[in-house]
Amino acid sequence: MPQQNDFSTRAIRQQQPRTAASEHSSPLFLTSSFVFPDARSMEDAFAGNSDANIYSRYSNPNTDELIGKICDMEGAEDGFAMASGMSAVFASMAAFLRSGDHVLASRAVFGSTHQILTELFPRWGISHTYVDPVDIGQWEAAIQPNTRMLVVESPSNPGLQLVDLEQAGALAEKHNLIFNVDNCFATPYLQRPGDYGAGLIVHSATKWMDGQGRVLGGLVVGRKSLIEELRFFCRHTGPAMSPFNAWVLSKSLETLSLRMERHCANALELAQFLEEQPAVERVHYPFLPSHPQYELAKRQMRLGGGIVAFELKGGIEAGRALLDGISWCSRSSNLGDSRTILTHPATTTHSKLSEAQRQASGISPGMVRVSVGLEGVEDIKGDIGQALKKAGGQ
Ligand SMILES: Cc1ncc(COP(=O)(O)O)c(C=O)c1O
Repeated sequence: MPQQNDFSTRAIRQQQPRTAASEHSSPLFLTSSFVFPDARSMEDAFAGNSDANIYSRYSNPNTDELIGKICDMEGAEDGFAMASGMSAVFASMAAFLRSGDHVLASRAVFGSTHQILTELFPRWGISHTYVDPVDIGQWEAAIQPNTRMLVVESPSNPGLQLVDLEQAGALAEKHNLIFNVDNCFATPYLQRPGDYGAGLIVHSATKWMDGQGRVLGGLVVGRKSLIEELRFFCRHTGPAMSPFNAWVLSKSLETLSLRMERHCANALELAQFLEEQPAVERVHYPFLPSHPQYELAKRQMRLGGGIVAFELKGGIEAGRALLDGISWCSRSSNLGDSRTILTHPATTTHSKLSEAQRQASGISPGMVRVSVGLEGVEDIKGDIGQALKKAGGQ
């Protein structure tokens, strides 16, 4: 067969073997368990001597198809699909860490990841040290004899700070740390952490992978030996993704590259527009030359991503006013949707953090996060522009 090298071709054409019905599009396997023709084949499946499905908490043709696609996109050997991004983040750490272990983590990680590290893991004797995502020269000094894992997110939510994946991967290798990267903001279309030595790549599939705000989902893909350990953890703790969500997500991936191209083009244009607005103090977008890590962004990302963050001169009140001022763009906490969504982190997603913690994570009182949708960019600029005029008191 002629080769299928293109990202989109592979995302569209990979599917489970057709059933006797010769369906064109993949069917939905809504079944909790699977049957066996005889006792011996059932025994073999339980002994791990065959690939036969046993039970949908372990595997299912829909989740297998989704995992296969994402492994292919990330260049990963194996993976496991879970009910949400957070179950994937949690499993990617809890499956490997033991009491007495230490985690080195970028300070700019997602809020719930932060809660796992600071509130839950200490209960089980797992400690952590936060490091500045940008100042990688300081990381080595924070490594302890019991450090087992390096956890980073790039670009970060919502401050869009980047971690130099090549340098981080080299450090992890030197100190024999499991390198765990949350690649949710970039998606494998824009960035492949496995190329820099990440052994575990984590996704909230709820975001760009679904792309239309319909289902929750999460995945961990990576090195085979690590995923085997993760699979043991997941089989027995039960965070598996539902076959229905896997079916939706596998369909969604067929258009991932097309959607990301448009999200990124709209986001860059919106970021450039925002830089010219008098009410705006600062715009954060990896592919803007004003981003302090612009050169790094160009090196490790194909495009700048679909999220733009900006800081309003008027602080927290201006943030509230901007959210009130938008007309048809959405006020919501999700991201990665076909619809443009605005969030004011200081009063919502990050309101539980202290002002000092927010500052340390790069979140100012007047910061607004835009998940740039697929609508016409002139319309998006129009709605946010008129809200800015009201919020800036002009
Ligand atoms: C970077 C990142 N990781 C993980 C998550 C958690 O994903 P989920 O909401 O699917 O549990 C999110 C959610 O916003 C996120 O932005």
